[in-house]
This record gives sequence, C-alpha cells and structure tokens, in this order.
Amino acid sequence: MKLADNKATLSFSNGAPSVELPVYQGTVGPDVIDIRKLYGQSGMFTYDPGFLSTAACQSAITYIDGDKGELLYRGYPIEQLANNCNFLETCYLLLNGELPNAQEKAAFEARVNQHTMVHDQMQYFLRGFRRDAHPMAVLTGLVGALSAFYHDSTDVHNAEHREIAAIRLIAKMPTLVAMAYKYGVGQPFMYPQNDLSYAGNFMRMMFGNPCEEYKVNPVVERALDRIFILHADHEQNASTSTVRLCGSSGTNPFAAISAGVACLWGPAHGGANEACLNMLEHIQANGGIAKVGEFMEQVKDKSSGVKLMGFGHRVYKNYDPRAKLMQETCNEILAELGLENDPLFALAKKLEKIALEDDYFVQRKLYPNVDFYSGIVQRAIGIPVNLFTGIFALARTVGWIAQLNEQMGDPEYKIGRPRQLFTGAATRNVK
Ligand code: CMC
Repeated sequence: MKLADNKATLSFSNGAPSVELPVYQGTVGPDVIDIRKLYGQSGMFTYDPGFLSTAACQSAITYIDGDKGELLYRGYPIEQLANNCNFLETCYLLLNGELPNAQEKAAFEARVNQHTMVHDQMQYFLRGFRRDAHPMAVLTGLVGALSAFYHDSTDVHNAEHREIAAIRLIAKMPTLVAMAYKYGVGQPFMYPQNDLSYAGNFMRMMFGNPCEEYKVNPVVERALDRIFILHADHEQNASTSTVRLCGSSGTNPFAAISAGVACLWGPAHGGANEACLNMLEHIQANGGIAKVGEFMEQVKDKSSGVKLMGFGHRVYKNYDPRAKLMQETCNEILAELGLENDPLFALAKKLEKIALEDDYFVQRKLYPNVDFYSGIVQRAIGIPVNLFTGIFALARTVGWIAQLNEQMGDPEYKIGRPRQLFTGAATRNVK
C-alpha cells in the first residue's frame, strides 16, 4: 500500500490526546485512513454499520466509480469486455490479472472443460431435497457439499489448491445449476458436453433432453454469456464480503463460496432479479401499465414497505453501466425471439421512464440496476423466475473465488473480527 502525503488527525472535544492516523492511496478512488491502531491509541472503535465508509481490504481486482457509472475488471471497462471478450476470458482475467493470449485461452478452456462433470454421488445428495425446494436453497447445499467431494483442493493456504478449487467451481457451477433445475421439473440430468461453449453447454444441460439433439441458438448463447460477464464480479459487495469473512477463518473454499450463495439469495442483493420480475408480474396482473402511477405512489410512500425492485444501488449514484448493456441485450433477445411486444418489457420501460423523471428517484439518485433488465432477458430465454438468482450465483462464483484467493494470498490478511458498540445490560447479578 502506498502512503499518501497527508495524514489524518483525530481530536476529541474532551481534551483526550489527539491521534495521528496514516492515509493510504489507491491507484484510483478515495484514499483510506488507516485506523488499525486507533483502538490501541485511543481505546475507541469506529462505528460504521453497513460499511458506508469502511474499506475492509485492499484489492486489485474490480473498481467501481459510482458517480461516473464506471465498472472496471482489472482496469478494463465492462463495456469493452462485454463487447470483445467471452465469459471464460473474463474469468481468466479476474483470476490472473491479465487477459489470456490465444494459447493461454485455449489451455484455460481445456482445463475448465476437464472439470465440468460432478461426482456421480452428487445426484444422490441432490435427491434428498424436496422437488419444489427453491433452487437457491438447493445450490447453497450443493456448493457446500462440494467440500465433501474434493479433498485435494481444501488447503486454502496452498496456492495450488486454491487454483484447482477455482477451476472446479467455475466448471461445475453450470452443471449444478442445471441439475437443480432438472430435478425440480422431474427431467433426467444432462451430462455436460465439452465441445460446446461455456454458455452453450449450460443451455444444453438446462433445455436439452437425452432423446433429441440440442441446437444452441447463437443469439441466446451470446446473451447468456453477456449476463455471465456482467455479473462476474462487483468488488466488495455483500456476498463477496461474506465469502471473504467466511474464508478468513481458513475454512474450506467450497464452504466459503456456499456462504456467498446464501448471502446472494436476499432480495436486496442477487435476489433482486427474481423480486423485480415478480413485481412486474404483480403489476401486470393488477391492471398493467394503467396502474403504474398507482404503484409508484406506493413505492414513494415509505409506510407501504414497497420498493421499486431493480432500482437503486449502494455504489452507483449516476447509472449502473451493467444496466445499459443489459438493456441492449434485452432488445436483441426480444427481437430474436419475436417478443418485441412483450407486455412486461413495455411495463418495465414505462416504470423506468416515470422513475427517471420523478423527483423522489432523482433526488435520491436512484437508477435502474442490472437486475431491472436481466430478469426480462432470462425469462425470454426460458429460465424460470426462481432460478434467476442461481444464474447470478453461477456467474459471480469466479468473482468470489478470485477475491477469496486474493485475500488468502495477502500478507496483511487476518481473520475478520468486527467489534461492536454494546448497548445491552451491564454486569448484573441473578437474584
Ligand atoms: N425503491 C424505492 N426507494 C428506494 C429504493 C427503491 N428501489 N432504493 C433506495 N430507496 C430509497 C431509500 O428508501 C432511501 O430513502 P430515504 O433517504 O428517504 O430514507 C434512499 O433511497 C437511499 O436508499 P438506501 O436504502 O439508504 O440505500 P442503500 O445503499 O442502503 O440500498 C439497495 C441500496 C440496492 C439495497 C436499495 O436501493 C434497494 O433495496 N433496491 C432494490 C433492490 C435491488 O434492486 N437490489 C439490487 C442491487 S444491484 C444487484 C447487486 O449487485 O446485488
């Protein structure tokens, strides 16, 4: 870490001695005040629930400038990656720091392909779930269970073990997500077919059956690949921080990633795509576009508890660049599938237009996020609504494992242990 020229001085109105704190500079983005010695020097903690002003780690993977609406993976703008690269190249970039050359790309693809199958016993584990279980519940279990199957990649302090765990996770997630889906609909599992692309293979495992040849539609394949790229990493969000915190104890990497899956499920995070589509369907069922105004009044009324799902972001206060790209994909996919007049798409556009002009949203800098359009794309492709967050998990797995591996290789890494402001009862005696 690079020390900045200036230092911070914290002074107290009660006359306690002031504390001088070092300031560090990143490559871009806000400087950080190093408060690690604050407790030792002042006997005080800092208080920042929700991490509004706290950098919990240093990282060289992903950078977001929320005011500019900019997202960079290893320095490359998301727009350039989405237009010029495929998902596996993006995975290589996130894991290794550089885009692969042709040879590295072929070797990486071959390596991932070698690991697409899961242990056959996995299907018997899966069969223990109810058929109507939510796919995110199933995935949390399946990913955690990988730790029981792959003992040779479980020493997180061994860089080689971490690398093989990364490859296994990237390779096996599509197989597991498709298995969770097939189990729910009562169809036979499809084994991976390794001469297909990453997205094409996933489509076949989802929508193919053993009785017929499956033809991959290249427009849908590209749309899915773009969804994967756009969701691949997003710096220190809730699920990534969960993976880092969970992994900081030195636990098994598959177990740490399953903690990320569990966190992602929530509607304020990855579950927003499912919640957004459910919201659109609810409005549609209750009058559609004609009722949009009424719905927006509910959203603005805090006592209603209704939120405009797919809107707002902790970091983006201008626009979410992923949402722009996803809207493009949405137009392409609906045209390809002859769904241009899809009523939910029309409804989403109307909601977006109202929100972008409404004072409530303008003042709070609330813009559509990636999940506003990704649900419409996934629904058009034929992915069931309750699997949307599973697709997000599949894509985010590379980000989680890249961030976990970065942490475990960081000499400054320590087990995460937040402190608290205690507001409960002080010592008292049982009478
Ligand atoms: N609809 C209505 N009001 C909203 C919304 C929304 N979607 N999002 C934020 N607000 C209001 C919020 O009530 C608050 O108002 P006030 O200042 O009057 O109290 C203000 O805007 C600031 O919001 P906040 O809750 O303090 O912001 P946050 O950074 O804590 O929350 C968020 C960010 C994404 C959780 C939130 O915007 C939200 O719940 N959005 C809907 C869920 C969603 O789409 N999540 C997906 C995020 S992108 C995918 C991912 O990376 O996970």
